[in-house]
Amino acid sequence: MTQESQQRKIKWGIIGLGGIAHKFANDLITIEDAELYAVASRSQDKADAFAEKYGATKAYATYEDLANDPNVEAVYIATPHALHKDNALMCLEKGIAVLGEKPFAMNAGEVDIMIAKAKEKNVLLMEALWTYFLPHYQYVLKELENKTYGNILKIESDFGFQRPFDTNDRLFNKNVGGGSLLDIGIYPIFASLSTLGMPNNIEAIATFFENGIDSSCHMVFNYSNNVKAILKSSILEVFPTEAIFYCEKGTIKINREFHCPSTVTIIANGKEETKDFGYDKNIFGYKYEAMHFNKLLKEGKKESDIMTFDFSKKLIKLLDDVRNIINLKY
Ligand SMILES: NC(=O)c1ccc[n+]([C@@H]2O[C@H](COP(=O)([O-])OP(=O)(O)OC[C@H]3O[C@@H](n4cnc5c(N)ncnc54)[C@H](OP(=O)(O)O)[C@@H]3O)[C@@H](O)[C@H]2O)c1
Repeated sequence: MTQESQQRKIKWGIIGLGGIAHKFANDLITIEDAELYAVASRSQDKADAFAEKYGATKAYATYEDLANDPNVEAVYIATPHALHKDNALMCLEKGIAVLGEKPFAMNAGEVDIMIAKAKEKNVLLMEALWTYFLPHYQYVLKELENKTYGNILKIESDFGFQRPFDTNDRLFNKNVGGGSLLDIGIYPIFASLSTLGMPNNIEAIATFFENGIDSSCHMVFNYSNNVKAILKSSILEVFPTEAIFYCEKGTIKINREFHCPSTVTIIANGKEETKDFGYDKNIFGYKYEAMHFNKLLKEGKKESDIMTFDFSKKLIKLLDDVRNIINLKY
């Protein structure tokens, strides 16, 4: 890549201007080779206010208008889960590279359709599972891959918080894919999949709200040699929200909140040491996935070598499998 192309700013768009879109925009505008060019909401006022806050040039009152803007090169999809597939297809159809929030879609069938469309159009597509790109998580992956503390014997990971039940909040709205599993259970599952791969079998139990979405989900992923991953999600209870990897010669603990920029504590040889990754307090941590995406786009890649299609397919399959066991239907 020439220096000129390295510095060229990718023109980004954001679709769905809710909570996560604000955090992503905050980080995106700190990246040298990214420009927040366009934003799209279902409301012109909301789009205008968002565009003003983050300095976007265009503010659209429909998602379609953004997809029809030929200047948009990359789009970040930040709508509720049930809209991810259609929003992604709309952009891919127009040749816009798509970074789509987690869960990538509602089920494996939808993810297959998205990947097929990206391949058909020869356009970059990636699931925005930001944790994969965070330096502390990459550090832990390396330590586990190198078997610095031997093989993993057990994983414990959880994600839980309390929020009052309110069907106006997408988290509790069945129509848009609410519930704990798809929203936050995906992170403990990710911790297991990214380190141990696919389990041999799964056990799961859940509790439910009256509208049929899961309020909590407890899972055990069983691997060979009696290795287990004990995983939990809840929107009823506050959990430590850690990921702990118990290995033969030590324990690696990603501290609260493990899925965000965090610290890592190593307990080995009778000592305990906590590693600080010097994260910038002014960003949330979404810039790492966006920087990776920019690089892929500039190199003409159509698939990430970190968040691969195969990985996204496995992740959504695990969510489907757990849903089947707990009988969670949308
Ligand atoms: N990576 C992360 O750390 C992270 C964190 C939180 C959420 N997420 C993911 O990001 C997605 C959005 O989450 P969020 O917390 O930002 O949600 P949110 O605050 O509710 O925002 C979602 C936005 O989607 C748009 N939207 C379109 N149709 C909608 C509908 N029927 N109901 C509600 N909103 C609708 C709205 O934007 P307009 O009004 O502008 O159209 C809304 O503001 C989810 O899939 C979630 O899993 C990821």
